[in-house]
Amino acid sequence: MSGQIDMRIVNLHKRFVRNEVLRGVTLEFAKGQITVVMGASGCGKSVMLKHLVGLLRPDKGEVWSGSTRIDNLPERELGIVRRQIGFLFQQSALFDSLTVRENIAFPLCEHGMTVQRLINDKVMHVLELVGLTETVDQMPSELSGGQRKRVALARAVVLEPRVVLYDEPTTGLDPIRSEIINQLILKLSDALGITSIVVTHDLVSAFRIADRMVLLHEGRVALEGSPEEFRETNDPVAGRFLRGEITAEDLARIHKSGDDVPARHN
Ligand SMILES: Nc1ncnc2c1ncn2[C@@H]1O[C@H](COP(=O)(O)OP(=O)(O)OP(=O)(O)O)[C@@H](O)[C@H]1O
Ligand SMILES: [Mg+2]
Repeated sequence: MSGQIDMRIVNLHKRFVRNEVLRGVTLEFAKGQITVVMGASGCGKSVMLKHLVGLLRPDKGEVWSGSTRIDNLPERELGIVRRQIGFLFQQSALFDSLTVRENIAFPLCEHGMTVQRLINDKVMHVLELVGLTETVDQMPSELSGGQRKRVALARAVVLEPRVVLYDEPTTGLDPIRSEIINQLILKLSDALGITSIVVTHDLVSAFRIADRMVLLHEGRVALEGSPEEFRETNDPVAGRFLRGEITAEDLARIHKSGDDVPARHN
């Protein structure tokens, strides 16, 4: 594959007590590409994302952001790395007691910006990107689930990151709202040249946005390739997962028990 590598994880291992979650994951994320990461619930997708911003430290292996190795950086130096990486958390994680404006301004203030006019301009710019300028003085509780996701997305990109990590951006949204988020991910990728890493259970969304797909299974990369390669895969479990014949939850059960599950007819 051509293109510059923006982020890289090498032989990543992570366990929590006796739960061996990541067992040697190696992946490269090319600049400007959208990589979709899938896999059973609990297989370590969110854990992997957290390593990419230094929220978790590996037991073994390396994490690289551009030419900087970040897995062993002291906390104070991680701030510079985090400034370049936007993170849309699995739960939108807006601050309930702050307005939309204050929520989006938060990372700007945290990174030392003090000029109110500049802060305001940036807040309005990203709200425009997600189509929600009219909500600027509202509280998160006044917004719909889809709107909250879009505000969280605006906040994730307000520092003009090089890379954006999306953890389940469309989960819990109806198809129309999911499609708005898909469009936004594509737009940010195209317009700002952002490198995107998207964790999702939503196969429609995955095939809609992916340049490249990754399936995690049993702590390793089970399958990696273009959407076409995923559609045509001969890997039996991956194939059925991707055709929607089994769900992420079924896959988790297979993972636990070693059993197979009957195909679903509908
Ligand atoms: N901080 C932590 N301490 C202990 N165990 C953890 C921690 N974070 C994650 N785990 C465990 O690691 C495993 C992987 O969790 P993770 O959140 O990455 O799953 P996931 O693939 O994102 O699942 P889902 O699709 O449901 O979001 C789970 O068994 C989880 O309980
Ligand atoms: Mg998760």
